[in-house]
Amino acid sequence: MSKTLARARVPDGVVTLADHESHAQTQLDSNAWAYFSGGAADELTLRTNRIAWDQIALLPRVLRPLAGGHTRIQLLNRTLAHPILLAPVAHQKLAHADGELATAHAAAALGAGLVLSTQSSVSLEHVASAIRNELDRGPLWFQLYLQPDRGHTRELVQRAEAAGYEALVLTVDAPTSGVRDRERRANFHLPAGIWAVNLHGMQMPSAEPLDAGQSPLFDSLLHHAATWDDVAWLQAQTRLPVLLKGVTHADDARQAASLNIAGLVISNHGGRTLDTMPSTAAVLPRIADTLGGSLPLLVDGGIRRGTDVLKALALGANAVLVGRPYIYGLANAGAMGVAHVLRLLRDELEVAMALCGCRTLQDATPALLDTANHKSLISPAGKANPL
Ligand code: FNR
Ligand code: LAC
Repeated sequence: MSKTLARARVPDGVVTLADHESHAQTQLDSNAWAYFSGGAADELTLRTNRIAWDQIALLPRVLRPLAGGHTRIQLLNRTLAHPILLAPVAHQKLAHADGELATAHAAAALGAGLVLSTQSSVSLEHVASAIRNELDRGPLWFQLYLQPDRGHTRELVQRAEAAGYEALVLTVDAPTSGVRDRERRANFHLPAGIWAVNLHGMQMPSAEPLDAGQSPLFDSLLHHAATWDDVAWLQAQTRLPVLLKGVTHADDARQAASLNIAGLVISNHGGRTLDTMPSTAAVLPRIADTLGGSLPLLVDGGIRRGTDVLKALALGANAVLVGRPYIYGLANAGAMGVAHVLRLLRDELEVAMALCGCRTLQDATPALLDTANHKSLISPAGKANPL
């Protein structure tokens, strides 16, 4: 790992992602804790994301040959060492002074894909140049928020292409922020020196003066929100594959498939945008059914265990992303902490595969899931159905 990064040890006794979370709460101030750990409104979606994975039971097979097994997958014309990617998370210097640079080094060392946020606190060029030439690194993707000025969006896309990013992930579930009560209670603010450096010089257009009765949202901010037309526009601007992040409705998935989209990230933004959305574990099988394997599907939200990764793949995902857990690792021990989180998750995935009789991830099919439990999870009216 790079000499320029802080060296730190993961504290003794931190052996799970949940341990990382509770330790991180003792490391972060209340401002940063509210930002990273919070969700929207009553945080029902935040909670249900987690509960839903717990409520799916695995029904293992025994006596199958396991020797020579592995966690490799194919994704967008690349072989990945394992199916765990780091989700885009903004403002990572709030968690640790090394910020996204530490995250990138850890991802590269552990062969994990990295999706860098538009709102990163280290520039997209700096992050890419730090790991671009690492031999065993995973894919490097750039998460894009469409900017109010399309010229600025084009500029970001061109910079991402020039820096060596291999795909664009357009986030479509946040035309505005959710109702972030926890952030408001903590009076959340970005401390001096931490800001969205990629957007330097890309000021928001000054707000039009509103007439009495006009909405600052509908009559101003949302004039710039992305639409399906912008998706087609973006595809025409770039040679990179474009994925959409934040799709949960099967009809939207179908529309994306008709547009030559390279993949979907099934996500509710970690419960940070619209509260009371269903868990991603609940919507994933519906979308997988709808698309019938025609598009790569990634999923995030509440994934904290190797068994969660295996369940996600059994429900039809090709890969998963984790968000908060690696931020907690970052807060606890910089790059070493992020690497530790990835190592734990991958080791747990291997154990789960072995104990389920899966030699490869091709063996992760719905047959691995306890049907009674699975049905109750996806049935809209089912009693055990979390949201
Ligand atoms: C996010 N997420 C996010 N998504 C995105 O597309 N662009 C972004 O800049 C951010 N920023 C961000 C900040 C913080 C603090 C969090 C927690 C999340 C959403 C993220 O990519 C992912 O969808 C969720 O974090 C997944 O849920 P878990 O793993 O955190 O439960
Ligand atoms: C968030 C934005 C940056 O969730 O996506 O905080």
